[in-house]
Amino acid sequence: MSGNQENRIVRGPADWRGSVQVTRSFLPGLDEYVALLEGVWETGQLTNHGPLVTRLESRLRDYLDVDHLFAICNGTVALQIAIEALEFAGDVITTPFSYVATTSSLVWQHCRPVFADIDRESLAIDPAAIESVITPETTGILATHVYGFPCDIDGIGRVAEKYGLKIIYDAAHCFGARFRGRGMMRYGDAAISSFHATKIFHCAEGGAVTVSDSELAERVAYMRNFGHKGREDFHGIGINGKLSELHAAMGLAVFEHVEDIIASRRAVVEDYWQRLDGVEGLRFLKPGPEVDWNYAYLPVVLPDERAVESVRDRLAEASIYPRRYFYPPLHRLPGLEPGPSMPVAEEMATRVMCLPVFPGIEEMVVEKVASEIARAAAR
Ligand SMILES: Cc1ncc(COP(=O)(O)O)c(C=O)c1O
Repeated sequence: MSGNQENRIVRGPADWRGSVQVTRSFLPGLDEYVALLEGVWETGQLTNHGPLVTRLESRLRDYLDVDHLFAICNGTVALQIAIEALEFAGDVITTPFSYVATTSSLVWQHCRPVFADIDRESLAIDPAAIESVITPETTGILATHVYGFPCDIDGIGRVAEKYGLKIIYDAAHCFGARFRGRGMMRYGDAAISSFHATKIFHCAEGGAVTVSDSELAERVAYMRNFGHKGREDFHGIGINGKLSELHAAMGLAVFEHVEDIIASRRAVVEDYWQRLDGVEGLRFLKPGPEVDWNYAYLPVVLPDERAVESVRDRLAEASIYPRRYFYPPLHRLPGLEPGPSMPVAEEMATRVMCLPVFPGIEEMVVEKVASEIARAAAR
């Protein structure tokens, strides 16, 4: 997150073609990817924890400032492995305001998601709301650091300690972000990341589990590899959570650019902030003094759902698609048993929109999006 941000932003042609989504996957140079694949052709090793996965894990461990990091085939399986490794079972307290995988992975693991409402300012799960739904059936807490901003880590930690609960942080949005000078994935008993193609750092598909405790690390290691203990023995039951060498090659190629990607996103985000500075009726989430943010998303809170829909519809006419992220709130997912309402999450799900941000976004797209946001806020 250093360097001359202004020079790094790539501006596209004035007449952009095709549609503009909320993000555009970063592609490294094809030659960079192919150079890494040549090694795969030499060794013939396509998967099973080969040299590229090993190299990627070591780079990420250093960069993310964690003790143990396991590359996984995607962020959802990473969540499932973390839930299994920490022996969450029965009721798990979680946020209604996150991507669907945060809830679905719990349900897939036969846990019952118990929702606790979010804080109106940070949009992250509220520790007081967590405490209010703890029962003897509660086995853990699964919280999301939304948009790369930390949850109330101290507050959640205090509640967890008081009731002897473990914490998993869904840190899918946190690549490279730091809190109090430490990598954000260091916090909690386990954290997971997603390296999906839409993320700041990606492997096309991929993810990771990070932990500090060595015994827990051993469990994660065997669980992502079918439970294997050597060729003919098993530690226990596992799953296939391995990342392939081809995905690791993509990750290594993208990793070389990650600082530039973050710097470029920062320039775009600051451009939006500047254009919309002082516009009444809008609220942007901004990093606090202890946070070194990664500019992973640009959420804006609009006055009401009508404003969100008006921006969505007007931008769709120009083939620009910001995203209502996160919508719907997760306690309303079909297939879940009906539970109490979550007033803050319900309201915020209708008012928050994530604006298009990616390296190389055309200036006229930023201009158009900003002017539609300002117009909707003024109505
Ligand atoms: C908050 C959050 N959790 C979990 C996931 C799941 O990650 P993946 O798409 O790699 O399975 C995502 C990603 O899309 C996410 O945004």
